[in-house]
Amino acid sequence: MSVAGHHAVVTGGGTGVGAAIARALVGAGARVTVTGRRAAPLDEIAAAHDEIAGIPCDVTDPDAVAAMLEAAARRFGPATILVANAGAADSKPFAKITAGDLRAMMEVNLTGVFNLWQAGLPAMTEAGWGRMIAVASMAGLRGYPYVSGYVAAKHAAVGLTRALSQELARTGITVNALCPGFTDTPLLERSIETIMATTGRSRGEAEKALVADNPQRRFIAPDEIAEAVLWLCSDGARSVNGQAIAISGGET
Ligand SMILES: NC(=O)c1ccc[n+]([C@@H]2O[C@H](COP(=O)([O-])OP(=O)(O)OC[C@H]3O[C@@H](n4cnc5c(N)ncnc54)[C@H](OP(=O)(O)O)[C@@H]3O)[C@@H](O)[C@H]2O)c1
Repeated sequence: MSVAGHHAVVTGGGTGVGAAIARALVGAGARVTVTGRRAAPLDEIAAAHDEIAGIPCDVTDPDAVAAMLEAAARRFGPATILVANAGAADSKPFAKITAGDLRAMMEVNLTGVFNLWQAGLPAMTEAGWGRMIAVASMAGLRGYPYVSGYVAAKHAAVGLTRALSQELARTGITVNALCPGFTDTPLLERSIETIMATTGRSRGEAEKALVADNPQRRFIAPDEIAEAVLWLCSDGARSVNGQAIAISGGET
């Protein structure tokens, strides 16, 4: 079994890691729906690939996610690969985080995963095959300073992955999380700009501080995460279930 002929939905698929995943899946023969709140990045990637369609959707809204999956199924058939990649990382010292800030991190990084997987489960159950993949983070496996809401939400996404993998283990559906270290995307660019603005450091110093977490001393490329998605979708990975897989150059 490969991804050829399958319909994959990738949230946050217009930019960064999600766009790399969408391109890799379509390159391997899947049809792909990409979602995100802004139409422009979705239109751009869809315009470049016949087998990619964009549907704007806020993953924090369960009704919008259900409607997006229905519209996606009308175009490409029921989705059997659900990549919950949409996420955001706000940075503030713990003492300054409001309950609203924490909720916002949980909404996009945890509830967004929950909404996609719960709305998409009936189609996978019907098919008797499915791949649920969360793009979590090394922040789902360890702590970092000044991003406690993000770290808490990504740990929760890993917890959801582990629990659901047990519940669905006899259904033909696997559930796994990918945990990248710092990856070269617009999200990382915003983190670098925040460090520069809040500490007065130069771009080079800010990049050096982040890259120091990776023993290979480099940022991860989005394509490396996309390759892991293809592998998780392969028949050879059918026994890989409930894992939180670090893609981090050896960062632990
Ligand atoms: N870059 C890193 O260093 C790194 C490391 C580890 C994990 N990750 C994770 O990788 C994933 C992808 O991030 P990225 O690095 O590729 O950054 P990115 O380019 O900013 O991607 C985030 C995507 O999520 C979408 N999104 C955000 N909030 C959303 C919402 N409420 N509803 C729907 N879509 C939403 C964004 O689109 P709209 O703004 O148009 O909604 C955007 O396309 C995230 O889960 C992130 O936490 C990133």
